[in-house]
Order: sequence, then structure tokens, then C-alpha cells
Amino acid sequence: MPYGLRCEHRAEPLGIDEPEPLLSWRLSSGRRGDAPGGFRVRVRAEDGAQVWDSGPVDDPSAVSVRYGGPALRPRTRYRWTVEVTGTDGATAREESWFETGMLSPSAWSAAWITHDPSVQDVVDAPEEGEVALADHGLQPAVRLRRAFEAPAAPVAARLYVTARGLYEIRVNGTRVGDAELAPGWTDYRDRIDYQAYDVTGLVRTGANMLAATIADGWWSGFVGFDERRSGAHYGTFPQLLAELHLVHADGSADVVATCGDWQSARSPVRYADLLMGECHDLRRETPGWDLPDAGHDGEGWRTAWVAATDRSRLTASVAPPVRAVRELPARTVTPLAGGGFLVDFGQNFAGRVRLTARGLAPGDRVVIRHGEALDEAGALYTANLRTADATDVLIAGGDAETVFEPRFTYHGFRYAEVTGLSALDAGDITGVVLHSDTPWAGEFTCSDPDVDRLHEAISWGQRSNFVGVPTDCPQRDERLGWLADAQVFLPTACLNADVAAFFDGWLREVRGAQSPDGAFGNVAPRLAGVSDEGAPGWGDAGVLVPWHLYRVYGDERFLERNLDAMCAWVDHVHRHNPDLVWSNRTGPHFADWLAPTPTPRDVLATAYFARSAALTARAAEVVGSEEAAARYGALAAHVRKTFTERFVSADGRVHGDTQTAYLLALAFELLPDDLVPGAVRRLAELVEEAGPGLTTGFLGVGLIAPVLDAHGRADLAHALLRRTDPPSWLYPLRHGATTVWERWDGYTPERGFQAAAMNSFNHYALGSVGEWLYRGVAGLDQAPGSTGYRELLIRPRPGALSGASARYESVRGLVSTGWTRRDGVFELRVAVPPGATATVHIPTDDPAGVREGGTPVADAPGVSVAGTGPRELRCRIGSGDYRFTAALQ
Ligand code: BGC
Repeated sequence: MPYGLRCEHRAEPLGIDEPEPLLSWRLSSGRRGDAPGGFRVRVRAEDGAQVWDSGPVDDPSAVSVRYGGPALRPRTRYRWTVEVTGTDGATAREESWFETGMLSPSAWSAAWITHDPSVQDVVDAPEEGEVALADHGLQPAVRLRRAFEAPAAPVAARLYVTARGLYEIRVNGTRVGDAELAPGWTDYRDRIDYQAYDVTGLVRTGANMLAATIADGWWSGFVGFDERRSGAHYGTFPQLLAELHLVHADGSADVVATCGDWQSARSPVRYADLLMGECHDLRRETPGWDLPDAGHDGEGWRTAWVAATDRSRLTASVAPPVRAVRELPARTVTPLAGGGFLVDFGQNFAGRVRLTARGLAPGDRVVIRHGEALDEAGALYTANLRTADATDVLIAGGDAETVFEPRFTYHGFRYAEVTGLSALDAGDITGVVLHSDTPWAGEFTCSDPDVDRLHEAISWGQRSNFVGVPTDCPQRDERLGWLADAQVFLPTACLNADVAAFFDGWLREVRGAQSPDGAFGNVAPRLAGVSDEGAPGWGDAGVLVPWHLYRVYGDERFLERNLDAMCAWVDHVHRHNPDLVWSNRTGPHFADWLAPTPTPRDVLATAYFARSAALTARAAEVVGSEEAAARYGALAAHVRKTFTERFVSADGRVHGDTQTAYLLALAFELLPDDLVPGAVRRLAELVEEAGPGLTTGFLGVGLIAPVLDAHGRADLAHALLRRTDPPSWLYPLRHGATTVWERWDGYTPERGFQAAAMNSFNHYALGSVGEWLYRGVAGLDQAPGSTGYRELLIRPRPGALSGASARYESVRGLVSTGWTRRDGVFELRVAVPPGATATVHIPTDDPAGVREGGTPVADAPGVSVAGTGPRELRCRIGSGDYRFTAALQ
């Protein structure tokens, strides 16, 4: 049975600009050994006319197809069905739809409009109290509106909208869609994403009003930490561009587009900034401004100013929007000695608060400050936010009750300090969690509650930092799309959530930030004034990320779209390092960032050079570029050889003799076979000597458990996992962490907080061990050569645990594993989706006694014995649900 239909990795997307969109589905079946024989996809227009028929395709492994029909029409809904045929000839079908967007920048007619920036508010000398409102030189948000008539309620209405800045748009007073911080962050100099909304139900016969508020956002607000260029990276004031397309019953169409006949005014949002926060002055609120009967004039309204008409950079957004995904109740509200309240949401997260305030007089101020931690005195700790003010301000208008929720900012916090209210009930304040709405795809749990808490903290790190783009942290004046952070965390991220579309969007930014010489950057999207060349492990993300996405999602377009950029990156490194040791053009060479034991820079860089060359060769092979595959394959072999000659001794010791040096050499397969055992031995010694403990930074941390496991030392991986002294994953959890910290020792009771200059409590990089929880502890993995979870590898590593389980919604369908160990019996349940096969490694003291469903494996239907290893039996299975039992002490 097909289910979970997607177009371009999104369910029922509006606004697809890809000319040959990928249509995909997942499969489920209650029957063991069920496998699809083939599929057929048909695409129809709204009127039912067939547009494309793939015809029967005999591909038992396919779960997707590229649309191959005639050119798609703009702003058109297409319905599609997939029919899957089982090997027994039975068919099952499912249906979905997608809708095209504008398809081409030339299809737009709208202009960029805003409030005339030359019209400034009159300035009065500040009164006492006014100066206390630090506005950081930010301007008020802008309101824009346009009244229009509809002769009759339209049969279809679509709104295509974007902003240089952030927008919130309404039809007749009702907010359109639920996207937050739209249109998201791109290098606006290269591309500006637009979103499409179905507003059919909002437009009525007669008078209507289209109304928007726009704010600075990434376009003209503060971004990053560079004090010489702290804001206005792309522009100086926000602008809106929108087209409302109305289709009438008689087939005629109308367009309401942003242009000079709109009206503009300053918004009561006195400023709104991602880093600084947001201030609403409700005294300036004019209820009804966004309704059809608002009138055409009124105080402060004037003709909108046309700022620009360039539409050439408009692209449909490909990533899922940021949404308010869940709410966190206040766990405690504590009155503060000096007045005000301290609210604890019990969880560090990215988002904002919603506050209900009562009994305020006009002009009263409520100030909400945000922080991740409390200091020794129990007060809000904000030193680590650096220049990010992270403060929201409500100026009361005099209503008996006011609900305040900022709209154009977000903060990284667990605690909020609220001043200006005489009382605050826990029920009056809520944490609103924002993140890119990547569908959650994975679940993990095990018998150790500490490890479960670690998994939770890792997952919250992902939620908090996938906000439009993958960021390093959500709280301080940074929040940049650092490439290495994303690269090392990606394998974990892919198991937690479906991040295909999210990373597809971000990779456009990674490519866009590439220099003419081929250097990827360190951050993407690019910021004005930032042009550093990618450091080893940072720039290499431009190669490693597409490759990993291809493996997880089986979508070759990740390689097609990125191959040229991958080749250019490897050529760049090669060109400047003809002796194949990467020591020139290493950008800011961050090395194994924040490692307790540093790894020599040239070892680390050269390892990444070899890895990028090797993956580029493999990508070229997949895409069918034989010449490139051969060229980069040969280069990779030479870099590997150089690495060994320069850095590896005859007994397998790697120069620097650090955990990360061995991890890179082993994970990237740089060593000749005869040197591997020596390197593994030395790695194990180093881990043992450290406690067992780890001494890696960002670049080694995600590799340590998988590499130890792959080389027979899962015992050490478990020891690291359960260690509680720093550096370790559990140490922060013992000290109140609810997200993974940037530093192993972000806080210690002996020394207190680490340097406030760089000490985030919500950084996901060190949480990249999350991958091994699924792959190692629960044993849910795909085989090394497999893509799109076609060939599964189920190999649980129980360690001293008594149980673990994982579920993962793969591109092919649901994969799950769950094992328990009780009274000498190991029980393993496995679910394999149709069309996939699996090799299952069952740990046991008695391989001959292993049963499936109570029957000896040799006789169990759909199970074949593939071999035995030290204390394990290997079986091959096809799709279906299985329950193995085995003796294991
Ligand atoms: C960021 C990182 C990033 C690093 C570069 C830091 O300021 O927070 O996560 O990768 O700089 O070394």
C-alpha cells in the first residue's frame, strides 16, 4: 500500500517551481516478504484531463519518479496517483496533489513596496523614561494595505508573497497561512524565496482588504557577531512584494499586486529584530486597519513607496516553513525580590512567549528578557548572549486584557524575566516553540533514562537550530549557518526528522556562497562583508552534505545539483596544494573546534581533502560523469597515499596521536588495510587512557562511537556514552542541561560559566552522537552501499543495557527495531518495509538456538541464515515484521 505521498519531498506543496518535480511514496504491508513488482504514476489536471502517464514501470525498488510529461503550467494544481503492483499482481493506489508556483521570475508583475523611508517620525526631546527604551537604532515595522473589489467570491484565490525582510499578511483581517519568519533567510542578493497560499475561503464578494506588516528580519536587521557590520547586511529597510490571483467562475482572472496604489503606515511595532527583540506600542494600535471597511485614509496612512521592480531573483521556497510547532507551559513562576517574575519553561528552546497581561494603564511597560541559564544568585544569566538584547517590550494601550506575542523575532531561552506586571499566573505565560517544520521521522528510547534524556536534548538542539537554515545556536548574536556544525550533525538530524527539503533549500545557499575560485564558505547564507574561504571540515560540508542526503533519501538530484560545486571545491583545494597536503588556503582553519586535545591542522585538513575527493568521485559516478569519477577517484587515491606517507608510521600511528586523528583516518578509509589494526588499537588505547573518555571537538565527536563500533569496540562506545564526568555527553545533563552545550565544560560547579564570549547552551554539534543511538544502540541502519534504505543493516549493540528501540520513517516506509534482554533471553523485533531487504545481526551465546516467531530460524518463513560471527548469528530477511529470540547473558 503506498502512503506518505510527496512532491519535492513535501506533502501537498503549493508553489512548486521545479520543472520536473520528484513524486515519491512510501510503502506498507501487513504481509511478510511482500515486495512491489512495479508502479505506475498518472498526473492529471484539475479538470481530470490526463497530463502524464509513466506507464507501467517494472522497478521493484522504486519509490519515486521524476515527472516526465509536458511542461507544467504556472499556478496550476495537478493531481497524481501512484499505483503499486505487488509481485502477486494485486494493485494498490494512493493519490495526492501538488501545485505549481509562478515558475518563472518573468511571470510576476508586482513591485517592491514600503513606507517612504524619507518620511521620518517627528522627533521630540525624550521624556524621562523614554530613553530607557533601547531601540538599537531600529525603525518601526511597516504596514501596507490595499482595498479591492471582487465581483463575486472567486472559485480560486492564491496569494504569492515575499519580503525583503519578514512579512505577515492578512486577507480581511485573517492571517494567511501559519508560516513564521517568512520568507526565510537566503542570500537575498542571489535569490529571494516566495511562498504560495490558498486564500480562496478568505476573499468575499464585494469589498476586501489585503494587508501586511513587514519587519527587518535578516534583510535589514542585526545578524551575526561582526561589530563592523552588525546589521543591514542586505538592505536598509523592509519591502513587500505580493500578488493575489483571483480566478472567477467564468474563467476570468484578476490580479491584485503590490504597486504604487497601496497605502503604507508605520506599524505600532516600534521595532522588531531577530537579535534585539520586539516592541509593541499598543497606544498606537488602530483596530480594523486590515478590514475592508477601514476607509482609505486615516492618520499616518500615505501612498506606498515603490522601492524597486526587480523580480529576477524570485524563487519558490523549497524548504518547509518555520512554524509555531508546540507550546510549553510555564513550569514555575517565581516573584523576584526587586519586582518582576522569573518564569522557567523547563526546556531550553527557540521561540518566544505569549503573555496575557491585565490591569495595565496606557503607557505601562512590560519587559520580557530571555536567557538560557540562571546565575549563582538565581538571576537570569544573559552574558553569553553577547550583543543580542533578546528583550521584548509591550507598551500597554489601556485594554483590560492584552495578549502579547511578538511576531518578528525569536530567542533561544529556557527562562524569561518579566517586569512591569503586579501579578503573573503560570497560566498567563506560554512558551511558543518555533522551528522549521521538518516532519519528525524518528523515535529512540532505551533502558537507561540518562541516555533517553540525552536523545531528548539532542532533539531539542535540532529543533532549536533548524530555524529557516541550520544554525549553530539560537540565542546569541550569531545564529549563522555554520557549515561544519551542519555537516557533523546531519546524520543525526536525518534520523530524527525528514530534512530532505530543508537541506535542499540550504544547499542553494552553500552553492551560492562559493567563491569564483571554488571555495565554499564557512557560513551559508552568505552575509555582506563575509568572504572567508571554507576551513577544512567547514567548506567540505559542500561535498559531505549532498552525499549524505543522497544516501538517506536515495534522490540523485542532491548530487546532480551539487556536483559542479563539489568538483570546483576539490579543484580549489588541489590547485593550491599540489603536493596533496592541505596546508594552503585553509581559511580560518578552525581545526577540531573546541577539542580538549588538539589535532595537528595539516593531518585534519588532508584527511578532509581525501574524503571530499573520494565522495566527489562517487557522486560523479552516480551522476554518470565517468571522466570526473576517474579523475577524482585517482586524486583521492593519491591524497590517501600522501596522507599515509606523511602522517602514518609503519605501526599505524597517525601524526598527532589524537583520537580525532585516528577517527578521521579510519572513518574516511584513508589507511591501507595492514595499518588499520594498529590504528584501531591506538585509538582504543587513547580512549581507555582518557578514562575511558573522549578528547575530540566538533570534527571528531560524531565519528567516535561509529568508528569504535565498526572496529569491534562497541564496548568503548557504550562506556563513552554513559560517562558522566566532563568531557562527556551526560555531564551537562547532570548540571541541568536540556539541550546539548557548545562546550564540554560550559558550566562546572568549580569554575562556574565558561567564557561568556562564547558559551552557548544550545549547540547541536557535540550532539552528533545521536546517530549512533539509532544505528548502534537500537541497531537501525542501512548497509554501507545502500541508498534510500533499500538494504537495511539491523545490528543492535546492547552493551550493558537491557533494552532499546527505534522507529524511523524512511523514504521507503517504516523501519523499526526493538530489543530487550531479560533472564538470559535476547528478543529482537524488526519491521522492514516492502521492497527492502535486511541483514540482521543477532547477538547470542548460542547461534544454533536462535528462533524467529518461536520457530528455529532455519525453518522460519522468509528468514535465511547468512552466517555466524563471534557471538552472533546473521540472517537475511525481506519485508515484514519479525521477532527473533536468542540466548544471551
Ligand atoms: C560557532 C560555531 C562555528 C565556529 C567556527 C562559532 O562561533 O558558534 O559553532 O562552527 O564558530 O569555528
